Formats: sequence, C-alpha cells, structure tokens
Amino acid sequence: MAPSTSIVESPSEDQAFSDAFGLSGKVVLVTGASSGIGRAAAVAFSRAGACVVVAGRRADQLEETRLLLPHPDDALAVRTDVAREDEVADLVEQTVGHFGGLDAAFNNAGTFGRFGPLHEDDEENFDLVVGTNLHGLWSCMKHQVARMLASGGGSIVNCASVAGHLGHAKSPLYSATKHAVIGLSKSAALQYAASGVRVNVVSPGSTDTELLRSLYADAGALATRSSRAPLKRLGAPEEVANAALWLASPLSSYVTGQTVLVDGGVTAGHS
Ligand SMILES: NC(=O)c1ccc[n+]([C@@H]2O[C@H](COP(=O)([O-])OP(=O)(O)OC[C@H]3O[C@@H](n4cnc5c(N)ncnc54)[C@H](OP(=O)(O)O)[C@@H]3O)[C@@H](O)[C@H]2O)c1
Repeated sequence: MAPSTSIVESPSEDQAFSDAFGLSGKVVLVTGASSGIGRAAAVAFSRAGACVVVAGRRADQLEETRLLLPHPDDALAVRTDVAREDEVADLVEQTVGHFGGLDAAFNNAGTFGRFGPLHEDDEENFDLVVGTNLHGLWSCMKHQVARMLASGGGSIVNCASVAGHLGHAKSPLYSATKHAVIGLSKSAALQYAASGVRVNVVSPGSTDTELLRSLYADAGALATRSSRAPLKRLGAPEEVANAALWLASPLSSYVTGQTVLVDGGVTAGHS
C-alpha cells in the first residue's frame, strides 16, 4: 500500500509548508495540468502558496484542476496545445499579463502515442509523440527562458521518464523523445546557469495515472508494472509532484542540469 504522499498533515501546517518551499507569491506554470502528475503538481504548488497557471488542451478538465487547488483564486487556466508554438507563446504572455511574471515552470505535458513495432509506425504517430514531447517541450522552454532572462532568473523542471534512461520495448519513439528531454534540459542548464535560470528533470517510473491505466488496461499488466519496482507498487502522482516542487523551489538552489528519478528503485539495478 502506498504511504501518505502529502507532506502537509493538517491545514494549520499550510503556512509552514509554504514558508519552507520559498514559493509563496511566486508564479508557477504547469503544463499537462488537466490530469495525473500535472494536476497533483498544481495542487502542490498552490499549497506552497504559489500563483499557479494550469495548461493543457481539455478546458473543462483544466477548470476542474483549478477548482481543486487550495487557492483557486490565485490560479489561471489557459487552454494550450503545447505542440503549437503560437499557443505556447500566448500561454507565457497570458501568465505574465495576469500575474506579472514567471518564476518557475513544470513542463509535464506528454504522450506515449501508439505502442507497437517501429517498422509498423507511421508519420502521424511520429508527429504526435515528437510534436508533444520534444517540439512542445522545446517551445515551452524557449518562451519561458526568454521571460525568465528578462526578470533575472527562474527555475524550470521538465518531465522525462524511466524511458529517458532505458529503452522501451513497446514504444521506441516515446523513449527517444524522453532521452531528448534529458539532453535538452542538461544543455539548457549549461547555457543559462550564469543567467540565473536553473533547468532540471524529474523522471517518473510507473505512476498511477490515466495515461498508465490506458496503456496497461488489464489488471494483470498493471500488477506486472507494480511488481517490477523494488518498492513493489506503482508511484502516486503526488510522489512525482513532490520532487517537481523541490526542484522548482529555492530549496534546490545549487542543483541544475540534474535528474531526479522517482521510480520505486527500478533503475537502481537488478533486484
Ligand atoms: N504515468 C506514468 O507512469 C509516467 C511514467 C513516466 C513518465 N510519465 C510522464 O509524466 C507526464 C504526465 O503524464 P501522466 O502520467 O500524468 O498522464 P496523463 O494523466 O495522461 O497526463 C498527461 C497530461 O499531458 C497533457 N497533454 C498531452 N498532450 C498535450 C498537448 N499537446 N498540449 C498540452 N497538454 C498536453 C494532457 O492534457 P490534455 O489532454 O488536456 O491536453 C494531460 O494533462 C508525461 O510527460 C508522461 O510522459 C508518466
């Protein structure tokens, strides 16, 4: 059974929580916030006192996320397809227009695309997976960094995957794009370190979300995913969110170009 994943045990501890992370009043943008890990991260950032902008394609789901936040009035939902650079540019503009700046971002939007052998793949799937996971991330970083440079710095956290460290037998394309997330993040970390912009990565293992459940629809497949991890269970979205929160916050101020694996020990070695 998963342990409690909330760092805050009671509402009275909210103040101490937001003081601890140093994000109170800061502006944080979360992509892919309409469900799963992104939604959990939006909740965590809001609990830490940040003004949160939630982005994704499903407007109704985004509004549902906003209303779930501890401070929904200090949040903004912006319907965005990250595969469209013009929409990403508009997202960053709306963020700055509404809250006056951009201090941190969690670029979490991602898709697996279709599972299957590479020789049967097609350009439609290529465009979807690369468009979302690589082109989307590239546009988000491009526009976020430009804004952060103008205001003296910021912190970016990108979402990769265990498949960004190891191959994925069912989806070579997904694995390729997640390896690219790590390469892009490390390189940007080097380019902007001296300008006060930190760039890090969180790499989830099998995490109990819509995406995972749609891929491993039968109970047997899901049980196999759980038992693969040395911790013998799936991760909770909140456990990935907690790592993103730490990386986005000043608590990780001497960390850049790094990846935190939240994978139940899968990449630690053979158990
Ligand atoms: N769950 C896992 O086991 C696992 C493992 C490793 C890595 N990850 C990574 O974790 C991240 C979040 O996934 P999740 O598990 O939380 O799945 P999820 O619940 O399906 O969330 C994916 C999010 O990405 C958004 N998204 C997808 N395409 C988008 C686009 N073109 N523009 C804007 N938003 C888009 C979706 O929102 P809309 O549909 O509303 O656009 C949704 O909010 C992904 O990057 C995924 O690769 C997950």
